[in-house]
Amino acid sequence: MISKIIRDPEPLETFFIPEKIIHREKQIRDIFTSVILPLKNGIGSSAFVYGQSGTGKTATMKRIMGSEDEIHIFYENAISISSFKKVMGDLAYSMGISIEGKFSYESVFRSIERIRNKNVLLIVDESLNLIRKDFEGLYTIMRAGELFGSSIGTIIISLDNPALHLTAADMRKLGVFNEIKFDKYTIDQLGDIVRSRAEISLYPGSFKEDTIIQIAQLCERSGSARMAIEILQKSAFSAQYGGSECIDAEDVRAASAMINPFITESKLMELDFREILLLQSVCQNLMDGGDCTMESLTKTFSMNTEIHGIKTPDTAFIYRSIRHLETLDIIESRLESFGPGMGVRKKLYVNDVPVEVLMEKIKEISGRL
Ligand SMILES: Nc1ncnc2c1ncn2[C@@H]1O[C@H](COP(=O)(O)OP(=O)(O)O)[C@@H](O)[C@H]1O
Ligand SMILES: [Mg+2]
Repeated sequence: MISKIIRDPEPLETFFIPEKIIHREKQIRDIFTSVILPLKNGIGSSAFVYGQSGTGKTATMKRIMGSEDEIHIFYENAISISSFKKVMGDLAYSMGISIEGKFSYESVFRSIERIRNKNVLLIVDESLNLIRKDFEGLYTIMRAGELFGSSIGTIIISLDNPALHLTAADMRKLGVFNEIKFDKYTIDQLGDIVRSRAEISLYPGSFKEDTIIQIAQLCERSGSARMAIEILQKSAFSAQYGGSECIDAEDVRAASAMINPFITESKLMELDFREILLLQSVCQNLMDGGDCTMESLTKTFSMNTEIHGIKTPDTAFIYRSIRHLETLDIIESRLESFGPGMGVRKKLYVNDVPVEVLMEKIKEISGRL
C-alpha cells in the first residue's frame, strides 16, 4: 500500500514563503512605518531588523517584497560578502549601472539617484559578520542621506542586536536608528505555524493535533519556525516511507534527531575564529571535568588563543561572545548558588548535541577558516 501523507512537498521546504506570515503583524507594521512609508514619500531611512535564526526575518522581508511594486527593492544575502561597498556595487548593477574598478560611495549613491525612476529599498540579510567587519561601510550606508543626499531606504538584517557587536563609540556615531526585533516564537505560535503549514502540504487525516503540539514543544527553546517546519517535513517523510497512514510520535522523534547536527553546523558558520576557540574551550572544560566555570574557561581560552598566536581577548570579549553563543542557542549559562548567602557563580553548558559531536564539528569548521 502506498501511504498518503504528503500532498504537496513544496510548503515543507525552508525556502517556501507562505501567503500569510502569522504572528508578525507588529514587526510588519514597524517596517512599514519606519522605512516603507517614508520611502514612498521620497525619504530614505534605515532600520535594523534582528532576531534569532528561524524567527521569520527572511520570510517577512520576502513577503513584503512580493507585495510592493511601486518600489525598486534589492535584496542581498551578505553571508559571504566582506564589505558594504560590494553590496552597493551589486545594487547599482541591479539597476543597470555599470561600475568598473574602484568606485566611491558618493559616486554610486549619486548614480543611483540620477537614474532611478522608482524609490529604492536595499535589504541586506544575514549581515552580522558584515556589521562587525565593516563598520565604516555600515555607517556610510546608514548616513547616506546626510552624507550624499541619498533617498535610499535600507534594512539591515542580522541574528543579534547590532549594538552588542559594536563599540560604544561606534554606536554614538550611528546615532538614533529604528530597530525591529523578531522575538523567538512561543510554543503556541510555533503550533500555529506548523499547523498552517501541515494543512497546505499534508493530506487531511495524516496528522493529528498531538503531533503539532509535540513539534512545537521540541522547538520551544529555540523558538525557531525553521526548526519546527524541518521537523514536520522529516516526520512526514518518515511516516510516508514507513507506510503509515498518519504521522506518529516516533516519526517526530526520528525527525528531530536528524536535524540537530545540521542546525549546529549552520550556527557555527556564524562565528568568527576567536568565538570558535572560545566554544572549543567550553567543550574542553566540559569534557575534562564536566564543569565549565568562568574561571576555568578563561584559563583554557587563553591557552587556546596562545596556541594560535592570537593575543588573548579581554574579559569584555569573553562575556560578549558568551552572550552571542547563548543567542545562537549553542550554549546556556546558569547561575549556581554556593548556598544561602554564599554568593553565586556562572556555569556554562552545551545545548542540543553531545559535547564530543560538537567538538568534531568545531574541528571541521576551524579547518575551513
Ligand atoms: N510567522 C510565520 N508564519 C509562517 N511561516 C513562518 C513564519 N516565520 C517563519 N516561517 C517559516 O519558517 C522558516 C524560517 O523562517 P525564516 O524567515 O527563514 O527565518 P529567519 O530568516 O529569521 O532565520 C521559513 O520556512 C518560513 O517560511
Ligand atoms: Mg534568514
